[in-house]
Order: sequence, then C-alpha cells, then structure tokens
Amino acid sequence: MKREDFILPVHAEERKRTKKNTESTFSNFKISDDIVNLGYGKKYFIHTYGCQANVRDGEALAGMMEMMGYTSTNVPDDADVLFFNTCAIRKAAEDRVLSDVNKLRYLKEQRPTTVFCICGCMAQEEETVKRILSVSPHVDLIFGTHNIHRMPNLLAEVIQSNQRKVEVFSQEGDVVEDVPVKRSMDSKGFVNIMYGCDKFCTYCIVPYTRGRERSRRMEDILREVEELKASGRKEVVLLGQNVNAYGKDLKMEDGFTQLLVAVAKTGIERISFYTSHPRDYSATTIDAMRDYPNIMPFLHLPVQSGSNEVLRRMARGYTVERYKQLYNDLKKKVPHIAFTTDLIVGFPNETDEEFEATLDLVRYCRFDMAYAFIYSPRAGTPAANMEDNIPLEVKKERLARLNDLLTEIAEENNRRFLGEIVSVLCIGTSKRNSEVYSGYSKDNKLVNFTSEKDCINQIVNVEITATHSYYLEGKAL
Ligand code: 5AD
Ligand code: SF4
Repeated sequence: MKREDFILPVHAEERKRTKKNTESTFSNFKISDDIVNLGYGKKYFIHTYGCQANVRDGEALAGMMEMMGYTSTNVPDDADVLFFNTCAIRKAAEDRVLSDVNKLRYLKEQRPTTVFCICGCMAQEEETVKRILSVSPHVDLIFGTHNIHRMPNLLAEVIQSNQRKVEVFSQEGDVVEDVPVKRSMDSKGFVNIMYGCDKFCTYCIVPYTRGRERSRRMEDILREVEELKASGRKEVVLLGQNVNAYGKDLKMEDGFTQLLVAVAKTGIERISFYTSHPRDYSATTIDAMRDYPNIMPFLHLPVQSGSNEVLRRMARGYTVERYKQLYNDLKKKVPHIAFTTDLIVGFPNETDEEFEATLDLVRYCRFDMAYAFIYSPRAGTPAANMEDNIPLEVKKERLARLNDLLTEIAEENNRRFLGEIVSVLCIGTSKRNSEVYSGYSKDNKLVNFTSEKDCINQIVNVEITATHSYYLEGKAL
C-alpha cells in the first residue's frame, strides 16, 4: 500500500469571497536544483480537455516537464508520466475523462512506475476527487488549478517517495509569473490576462474550480505579447473566464479596454479575446474594436437564454433588452462584425414559451455560430438544487430545433463571402485532406483553401469559391 498525502478540495471554502482575500500577490516560478534532471530519458503525455484556458494550462505543464528533461509523446503507451488536464463544465465532459483514465489502467499494470496525474477543473471538485480516489487506484497524483506551478515538486515527491498525493487548494493562491511554456501553435499564442470568475451564474462550476477573479499585471501581459510577436506569431488570444472584468482587482478604471488598446498598439497583427460577459461589456471596448484594425472584428458574447425569466434564474445580471442593445451598438460601430454565442436549453423548468424566446433572440441576432448545450446539473451549484420537471426527451428536441435554426442562419450569413477576397491566417493543413490548407479569416471563419505555395503560419489572401454553414472554401491568390 502506498503512503497517502491528501489535501482535498472543499466547495464550502471555494464559495468564500471576502474583502480581505481580494488582493492578489504576485510571485515568480522557481524550480529547485535537485529536480531539474528528474525526466532525463523519460517521456510525458498530456491529454487536454475543454476550453482554451485548459489549453494554455497544458502548455505550461509541457513547459515545466521539458524544463525537467522530459520529452513529449502522443502515444500514452510510451509515456512515463500521463496528465489528464480535465474539464468539469458538463457531466459528459467528466464522464469522458474518467473513461479515458480507466481505459489506460493496463499501463500501470504492465509498468507500475508509470505515473498517472489528474489536474484541471475536475481536480477542484470535492465529490469527483473522492470518487477518483476510490474507483481509480492507479491515479497517483491529483493537483488543482491554483497550484499548477507546484507540479514539478509534487511529481518529484510521488516518484521519489512512492506516495499517492492530492494537493488541491480551495482558496486561490498567487498570480505566478514566468512559468515555463511550450506553445502548442506557431501561428498564434494564448495569453492569460486573468484567472477565475466572480459571477456565480447559478448553473456554473467555474467560480468554484477556477477561484476568485485575479488579473495579471498589464506589464507582464504586454511582455508576453511582445515575445509572441517577436517569435513570428501573428495572433494573440487573450484569455479569461470573464475578460471584461480585467483590472477590477487591480483598481484599474475600464481595465479591459486599457489593456486591449495597449495590446493593439504593440502592432501584433491579430488580437482576439475570450470570453466576454454582457454585464461588464463597456462602450469603450466597442470603440476600441472600431478604432484598431488589428482587433479582430468578431465577438463571442454568451447570452445563454432569450428569456428574461430564465436569465434571472441563471443570475446572469442582464436582460434580453440590454443584450440586444449591446448587439445593436456593436453592429452600428463595427458593421462587418461576426457575432457568436453560447446557449443553454432545458435549464430547470424552462417552459415552451421561454424556449421560444431563445429562438426569437437567435432570429434577431442572426449569430454566425453558437455553442448550444443541454443544461447539466453540477454538484455544489445553486441550480443543481432547483426542481426540474422537464423530461430529457423534451430537452433533446429543443436542442435539435435550436441547432437546426442556428445552422440555417449560419449558412445564410456565410453566403455574403462568396467571391470575396479574405485574409486568412493559415494554421496548418486540413484534418481531412493534407493537400488542403486550413486557417481563419479576420472574422474567425474557418477557411479551407488550396495554395500553390506553402503558407503555414502566414497570413494570405484567399478568394472564396464556396460557402457552407460553418466553413468557407477558396483558393489562395
Ligand atoms: N450545463 C450546460 N452548459 C453549461 N455551460 C456552463 N455550465 C453549464 C452547465 N452546467 C455552458 C455555458 C457557458 C459555456 C462555456 O458552457 O453556455 O457559456
Ligand atoms: Fe460560469 Fe457565469 Fe463565470 Fe461564465 S460568467 S464562467 S458562465 S459563472
């Protein structure tokens, strides 16, 4: 039996946000000399699930592993250390992770020194961690989102003292700078601008798993943007659960717009940002999108529902009217803007009328694309305790109707591109056909195109020859 050393997450602690703990402390990543060669001759494998914040965390894990001498592999069977960098947003995401982790259990049986690590949002969930500990005895290390920078030390302890270890903090720690990073893309780079979320939408687990809103200092963000620009990358993707709240904790006035303008002034070719919240969206941000051509003319602005009553039960803090007003301001000031959103169907006791109101809003905003989900109860959130009388079949039907409408509108919207010449950042070859290049237009449309010259990681002009709901086709000029 292995020794055990457990610090488990507690949702009741995660819920605490007091005035006292709203000030961030900043520190720098350090690695102790005795573990810099821990991975010499060994390999690591990372499976990242979920959103771009997780992708960026995966890049940090890879960076730290390579600093210790490990090399990467895409084949789990070849790995000495495996990471499951997890997502907790819906139950389906969690089930997928647990099934993947358990399917690979044979690796531990074949070679007991193989180390299985679970990190990311599932590691922050009280019940989930207890479940993993009991049903997946081959998992050696669980660490949370607040102490990802501690991974090298935790891994060394697991390996050197043959311990089973859990270290998950329920209250967020420092903002840690200079964590090594191995970038996953050469065309664009992900830059965290803030961590956490204070919004507590009633359905959402993120404020528990990612903690209180903490902003990085502007100078640290700008340094990272300059590094990405100097490395030849064409786009920076600014990341936060709720980017419009950037700088509030640093007592900045209109912090997100200040930051966005400063990033635009670095001259990097493209800037995108995820995710915006309608409640905090300021008019000055719309002005910046109008005034700086390198801020990409597209916006992902999750609305979740088209019914004021549902929005109230979700505690979203805005009305449909306010959302429409934002939409109209954006369309007026940046007329060619592409607009995308997230929608939830089947929130507890969503009536037919409330669902119809969502369809009406979709017809009004004519989204270029939307991620639509069936509501999934998350333990520890207020909505999980709401009574729900709507059968799953009805929810599935609603989702199908919503997706049909979204696809129809997206297809109509994209027709405007036929015969146009669009500038495309090429990110690689198409998944289906290696002779076809793939990239994104400035309005974030996926474009598959042919080109006589190799143009990977370059921005090229592409003439659009065919349009579809969710991608365009063309040829490079
Ligand atoms: N059930 C379904 N969808 C959810 N989302 C967040 N929490 C849940 C949940 N419990 C969706 C929201 C959010 C997106 C990232 O995931 O639409 O904007
Ligand atoms: Fe979740 Fe709401 Fe925060 Fe978005 S704003 S991460 S939906 S709590």
